[in-house]
Amino acid sequence: MCGIIGVTGADDALDILLDGLERLEYRGYDSAGVALIDHGEVVRVRVADGTHSVATLRRDTEAVDQAFSTGIGHTRWATHGQPNEANAHPHLDCAGHLALIHNGIIENYAEIAEDLVAKGHTMTSATDTEVLAHLIEECTKVEPTLTDAVRRALGMVRGAFAIGVVSASDPELIVAARQVSPLIVGSSGSASYIASDIPALLDRTRELMVIEDGEIVELRPGSIRITDAEGNEVPGRPLDVDWDVEAAQKDGYDDFMTKEIHEQPRAIADTLRGRIGSDGAIELDQLDISPDELAQLRAVTIVACGSSYHAAMVAKYAIERWARLPVDVDIASEFRYRDPVLDKSTLVIGVSQSGETIDTLQAMRQAKAAGAHVIVVSNVVDSSMARDADGVLYTRAGPEVGVAATKTVLAQIVALELLGLYLAQVRSTLSSQKFDDIVHELFELEGVVEKTIERDPAVAHVAQELAHAHDYFFLGRHASFPTALEGALKLKEISYLHAEGYAGGELKHGPLAVIEPGCIVVAIATGGEMKEKILSNVSEVKSRGATVVMLAEDGDELAASLADYLLLVPAMSPLLSPVKDIVPLQQLAYHLARNRGLDVDRPRNLAKTVTVE
Ligand code: G6P
Repeated sequence: MCGIIGVTGADDALDILLDGLERLEYRGYDSAGVALIDHGEVVRVRVADGTHSVATLRRDTEAVDQAFSTGIGHTRWATHGQPNEANAHPHLDCAGHLALIHNGIIENYAEIAEDLVAKGHTMTSATDTEVLAHLIEECTKVEPTLTDAVRRALGMVRGAFAIGVVSASDPELIVAARQVSPLIVGSSGSASYIASDIPALLDRTRELMVIEDGEIVELRPGSIRITDAEGNEVPGRPLDVDWDVEAAQKDGYDDFMTKEIHEQPRAIADTLRGRIGSDGAIELDQLDISPDELAQLRAVTIVACGSSYHAAMVAKYAIERWARLPVDVDIASEFRYRDPVLDKSTLVIGVSQSGETIDTLQAMRQAKAAGAHVIVVSNVVDSSMARDADGVLYTRAGPEVGVAATKTVLAQIVALELLGLYLAQVRSTLSSQKFDDIVHELFELEGVVEKTIERDPAVAHVAQELAHAHDYFFLGRHASFPTALEGALKLKEISYLHAEGYAGGELKHGPLAVIEPGCIVVAIATGGEMKEKILSNVSEVKSRGATVVMLAEDGDELAASLADYLLLVPAMSPLLSPVKDIVPLQQLAYHLARNRGLDVDRPRNLAKTVTVE
């Protein structure tokens, strides 16, 4: 996820870009840059300074003693290529006349780059974006206008994008386009603007319009012309905005946690994007280990902390079932000190949204020293773990602000399950029918999670009813066991209530002794195979007076009949179920915390990134 902004027809384009980028930092901040048009030249400044990138960009441009009226700016959250200056946007064509900013992922960039290099183009970055700048340059050779060239180029790319393009040869023009990734335009007086999102423009104008998928916009001072994919002019769809800037950064939601819960379908889609070919085969190009080596593996060990550990536990069930490899999942802080037995026949996977958690980082270093091939599943490109590991598999959830992980966890499960399928592919352990069925379901996840999120009012109602409860037990079995652990952890983290997650089979080995009236048992009765056994557990706790919140699949009348409160989710196969089952548990924790008047984004005593032991 990145933030883009552009303006033409203003007196102070540079200030507008910098102010807008500051307000888009919640979309990413590992590097930032601007390109401005000055007397037929493109002036570009880019920086990569971690969380300070936009501030550094402001400092580095202070010396620029010129007034610009047209320019584009970008704040980046890397998905392809490290977050360094060379990979920062805007990207230029070979001639340096055309500059481009992009939010999204160009899936077929590698094949386009190959073709362009053969035609003599020189790439200076490791990004998917730069390829598009050169492709548009190529198209300007056969098209009469920049807009036509952009239209032709976009016809050749696959993926998600919101782009802004400026050219020294038409100095007052910005061409922008959208496919999947968000894009708005606005105007005030002679100034015309583009941006990823409302907060970037709110202090300049409230006359905003949404650009739809497939549309291309030409912005000039005092004019905005929107056309569809065929080039027909279409009317803009005005946006009615009554938010202030802070609310707008949260997309109008009350807090980042709600916003990030709603971003989960996108996080899933982006994590899958470009990794499953049109023939259904999995393509993971940054693992840095050959299919032959993967086929020779004898075991997998996953190390992680917190919610990432729960994502890893889900993956254990999937990898063992699909790739027939033994999988050990360990809490990183335990792994470090237990002298684990490892060699090069074991694949070690670190899982960490931040890529910085000290215990996971050290566990991975130890595994590497022991001769294992180490990869990391991380949400932050070029994080310490990504730099240390032999290979990487990035989740693409965009920056997460809420301390309690939400969208990054779902993206981790999806990424790890993709990896599990890839292992099954290279080891030929699944029939092609089974493989295709799983791929099909992976693609369905985005929509299923969206549907699940929409059921929030039912969860809010249950939370209201449970206002006086203080003890929660979450029970699950098989791949729903980690779901139970994640539900309990979310509740603890943000509501400060006592919550424990248990494997249903362990109930009789202790927890049953503390079940009494007043206890709330959240039973995850989804995912097929083990459902009956969870329902037996439910009978056991009900007969001891517990109140049961049942998470069950649509149409499951038996589960419904045993529930005191029912939370329904769409049905899916057991190994993919955790991705959507975790959603109502996030929402339950959220509402219980909000009802207690707590700050869900910044829970007490906790931190987003834990770089100390
Ligand atoms: C902290 C965060 C959790 C996260 C855990 C592991 O405790 O608050 O949300 O799950 O760290 O972080 P990592 O970045 O390694 O996934």
